[in-house]
Amino acid sequence: MIIIAIETTCDDTCISIMEQENIILTERISSEKLLSKYGGIVPEIVAREHGKNINLIINNLNTKFDLSRIDFVAYASEPGLAGSLHVGEIFAKTLAWYYGIEIIKINHVIAHCFSAFIGQREVEYPFLSLIASGGSTSLYLITSAEERIELVKKKDDALGEAFDKIGKLLGLKYPGGPEIDKIYDSNLVQNIFKKQAIESDFSFSGAKSKVKSLIDADIRKHQTTNIAMIASSFQDWAINLLIEKIKYYQVKFDIKIITIGGGVSSNSLWREKIKALNVEVISPLKSYCCDNSEMIGFLAFHTIKK
Ligand code: KG4
Repeated sequence: MIIIAIETTCDDTCISIMEQENIILTERISSEKLLSKYGGIVPEIVAREHGKNINLIINNLNTKFDLSRIDFVAYASEPGLAGSLHVGEIFAKTLAWYYGIEIIKINHVIAHCFSAFIGQREVEYPFLSLIASGGSTSLYLITSAEERIELVKKKDDALGEAFDKIGKLLGLKYPGGPEIDKIYDSNLVQNIFKKQAIESDFSFSGAKSKVKSLIDADIRKHQTTNIAMIASSFQDWAINLLIEKIKYYQVKFDIKIITIGGGVSSNSLWREKIKALNVEVISPLKSYCCDNSEMIGFLAFHTIKK
């Protein structure tokens, strides 16, 4: 079974060709460098880039693989930026029409839940999955390729978005997540962010407002803002919040496996703290932490198999 998998939900244009759950080829073009110029994602620009890049990628793949061998087209159909998703959808539909094959719509966030298994281990249900990226922050209980419960969802900003916005307020480079991670120092951590109830949804926009008010207060007092202290305190608070919720639901549902995914899963404090939990924690291999089309093809395979 050959699957072509398309990922265009945000700022990476990415296509993989898979045989069953194994990756044959992947081509990716990222708009991240272009976006650092604007300090964040500009949906209209990103959608146009996808339109350009997707053609470059398919022409390139066409020179390396006989595309008429493809049996299924899988694409990330939600959630994501409207214009970016639209490019992926039209492209997938065109391929499916041209080759007369079936389309599989894949939820991008659920694909992240499965990405930790790629190249590492057999999929085994049930498992918990915590996905924290630029657009999502959710904790899922996954019981099959098609069935899951979203135990905790985001109420406002996603965690990656909060890292990026706070990074921007602190004058760090975009994306803020890796920059905050780099300057994190546990000795500088202060208790400046609010504790949240264990069964509440994830909420990070209050932390952003708090950072803004701290910076404004420093400006009023003609004081220099302690950037490293605020960045470290935020990272510590946010990662502890994730860990507390995971511990709670792991016990509640007697879970043996946890997968983690999304760009924030490359955070070093997160990786350190999650490893200390008494459960099998599977992190994606580095190349599957960020948006990728391999995970779209991988989940498509498990969906077709089911
Ligand atoms: O999953 P992802 O690559 O794609 C989008 O959702 O766009 O996640 C990107 C997000 C960004 O917000 C970025 O700041 C965050 O992941 N991120 C991190 C780290 N590396 C990437 N956040 C915290 N610590 C990191 N080391």
